[in-house]
Amino acid sequence: MTDAIKSRIYLATISVLLLVIAAMAYKFIVAGSTQTGEDGRVAVMLEPGERALMLREMRGFVVGLQLVADALSRDDMQGVAKASRAMGMARARDVPAAMMGKLPFAFKTLALGTHREFDTIAADAEANGTPRHALAQLADVLQKCVACHASYQVNVEAAK
Ligand code: HEC
Repeated sequence: MTDAIKSRIYLATISVLLLVIAAMAYKFIVAGSTQTGEDGRVAVMLEPGERALMLREMRGFVVGLQLVADALSRDDMQGVAKASRAMGMARARDVPAAMMGKLPFAFKTLALGTHREFDTIAADAEANGTPRHALAQLADVLQKCVACHASYQVNVEAAK
């Protein structure tokens, strides 16, 4: 085998490997694991434990929103900050990497945007933000809940 042919084979092998890596990165970072749900929304396909984790986190949002509303009714901005921070980015780190890989890019963007916005609400409330400002921010973050629920549902992967 001549050197020219050898280097062509190397190049071809490297190209194939790069393509495989690109395909895996696309699947893991961008596409996630989805199907079209019965009602036309995108169904994110998760294992039962992952689905339970996601829904538990969702119910945590409702708990947190109740605390924020209660604090707001008393003009208790420290209370608003504390409840909001509990829904912030620190929360997003609970999600295991394997599960992250199953979430489509747009879903992750919305989810992280939601957590980040709660951190902003907390920071503003601590920095002498008014209840009115916090309420406007709350209305804004609730748009993200609405938008995500309109587009996505979560289903359990069939057993392999
Ligand atoms: C990035 C997407 C996304 C965002 C943002 C989001 N959710 Fe969800 N949520 C989901 C999905 C997907 C489900 C499952 C819905 C289904 O399968 O029909 C869900 C389910 C829920 C449930 C039902 C929980 C259960 O036990 O069945 C509640 C309550 C909920 N979300 C509240 C919220 C609230 C409040 C917010 C905003 C603060 C929010 N969610 C933001 C995606 C999201």
